[in-house]
Amino acid sequence: MTKKILNQNDIINTEILNSYDLDGIFSNNPINRLKSEPTVEDKTLKLKKLKEKIQSIDDCKLKENGSKIVFADGNIESPIMIVGEGPGQKEDEQGKPFVGDAGILLNKMLNAINIKRKDIYITNVVNFRPPNNRKPEPIEITRYSSFLREHIAVIDPKILILMGSTAMESLFGSKIKISKERGNWKEIIINNKTYLVMITFHPAYLLRQADQKKYSWLDLKKIRAKIDEIGLNF
Ligand code: URA
Repeated sequence: MTKKILNQNDIINTEILNSYDLDGIFSNNPINRLKSEPTVEDKTLKLKKLKEKIQSIDDCKLKENGSKIVFADGNIESPIMIVGEGPGQKEDEQGKPFVGDAGILLNKMLNAINIKRKDIYITNVVNFRPPNNRKPEPIEITRYSSFLREHIAVIDPKILILMGSTAMESLFGSKIKISKERGNWKEIIINNKTYLVMITFHPAYLLRQADQKKYSWLDLKKIRAKIDEIGLNF
């Protein structure tokens, strides 16, 4: 018979157990009472599961039309998350958001406030290309908004930038107008956490309406000021 060698903790624990007349096992492992930050591995796994969940959506005209899922691009640890509308032709071909003309303008807009595209995280309201690049229908926006909320909770950004009315409607509903709401800091609560939100014009809209770029520039400057105010490393 092998004899178990007791260490000091075992002896103390046994004595405590006996003195309290408890049935239990003590562990020498420290108890982590503080909720720790998710690791990159945790986030990667959650994103993989979310992508699979979206991939398996049933009875969806968008999924039937798109050639593949366009999930997201960028740094999953970024404190800045951008949400667009939905993939176009180039995005559908490459499986990445914002790689067409609107993406080129987006990269320039980010560069103008000293942000590199690779340092932020980008996704869309809907993850499959709508037929003929139409705007997603209200029912589609509502259906995909639960995925988007989950996506935001996993990325957990410090600043959330909603580009265009579809992204705005997805989180704030359709009763408000982007022309009124853009450029003002807002808050949204997702999973009991409050996120700072800036609504601004979509780069595809700016390509069609160049005279609106002056407003977009005001919004970008506010975003830059907030990055500096909260001390983000950009
Ligand atoms: N427009 C969007 O909203 N998203 C893209 O990924 C591309 C164009």
